[in-house]
Amino acid sequence: MKIGILGAGQLGRMMAISGYPLNHQFGFSGHSNDEPSALLGHMFALENNADNIESLAAFADVITYESENTDVEIVRELNKDIPVYPGEKSLFTTQHRGREKALFDKLNIPCAPYKMVNTLNDLRQAVSQIGLPAILKTATEGYDGKGQFLMRSEDQLQEAFDSMNGVESILEGFVNFKRELSLIAVRGIDDDHKYYPLVENTHHDGILRLTIAPAQAIDPKVQKIAEHYMQILLDEMDHVGVLTIELFETDSGLVVNEMAPRVHNSGHWSIEGANTSQFENHIRAITGMPLGDTSPVHNFSAMINIIGELGPTDIALKMANAHLHLYDKSERKNRKLGHINIIANSQEELDNSIKQLKDFLPK
Ligand SMILES: Nc1ncnc2c1ncn2[C@@H]1O[C@H](COP(=O)(O)OP(=O)(O)O)[C@@H](O)[C@H]1O
Ligand SMILES: [Mg+2]
Repeated sequence: MKIGILGAGQLGRMMAISGYPLNHQFGFSGHSNDEPSALLGHMFALENNADNIESLAAFADVITYESENTDVEIVRELNKDIPVYPGEKSLFTTQHRGREKALFDKLNIPCAPYKMVNTLNDLRQAVSQIGLPAILKTATEGYDGKGQFLMRSEDQLQEAFDSMNGVESILEGFVNFKRELSLIAVRGIDDDHKYYPLVENTHHDGILRLTIAPAQAIDPKVQKIAEHYMQILLDEMDHVGVLTIELFETDSGLVVNEMAPRVHNSGHWSIEGANTSQFENHIRAITGMPLGDTSPVHNFSAMINIIGELGPTDIALKMANAHLHLYDKSERKNRKLGHINIIANSQEELDNSIKQLKDFLPK
């Protein structure tokens, strides 16, 4: 099939790389021919975004997107003529933190206490109800920890409010987590569901740096609980494609942080680490192909992000159990330029391999 992707970044690039062996073709709508996907298919990067979308629609049999910040109006318009997966409901819900949290509440999925904030007075009231510390986040458009303010004292009311630049925001109670986990799943057009194992994520300055897959020492009951939350979300949104849930592991159980209607950075390990990668499974789902097995191939996998500068990538190239994935992006502070996947048969081998790649991790 001809698959149209709204966006042309590294996620589109990796979806295309996984989809060519299945005889699919790809088109992207983006901003410029320098983007990571540009050489991997037909690139519609015209001056006028409306023309890009129109050309992409003329090309495609099915459309998907790279980001939850995709315009819902565009998806609704496209969907009159072509299937768009995940559908409008998934996109509309996941692009707004308030709508997302309201859905968690409706489905009895535990999440941090929250209040929507539009005025300084709203914020004052929210702080008095939720308490401190708390995190103020823009309701839409945030990623990699951008658009967030950690409030520790009431003296910061004005400063926190001003940092939102007048856009709608949400105050969330601070969750004292033991570690951060994520669950990636895929749902097919025929309602088949498949789940990857929970993975463990380490962030630095709001940016994911390291994923360990599967997360170590996970009680099978905890995996089941996460899958249950996932299943009711997939069904409620009639989701088709990959869905990711970010979770906090706490002393009193799992707390859901947020979700993304797409392949996710914490699933990049699956390229070499699982029988079928998240990218291939997303492509299979949206094209109506049978979903692939999601089991890990190796006992231990890890993914290290390459952030800001390329660094000593030769170290990874010389390691038998490391795989380098670059996105064809130029160096810039805090930019995701690529990642390294590690596979290992023992905990010791995994730890040693991560140590060899320590230059890619924050000090
Ligand atoms: N309510 C919270 N309590 C504690 N830490 C949080 C909370 N919300 C976010 N964080 C931390 O900030 C990171 C980024 O926040 P997140 O809501 O996932 O936004 P983004 O869309 O930028 O990924 C999280 O991975 C977590 O480390
Ligand atoms: Mg997040």
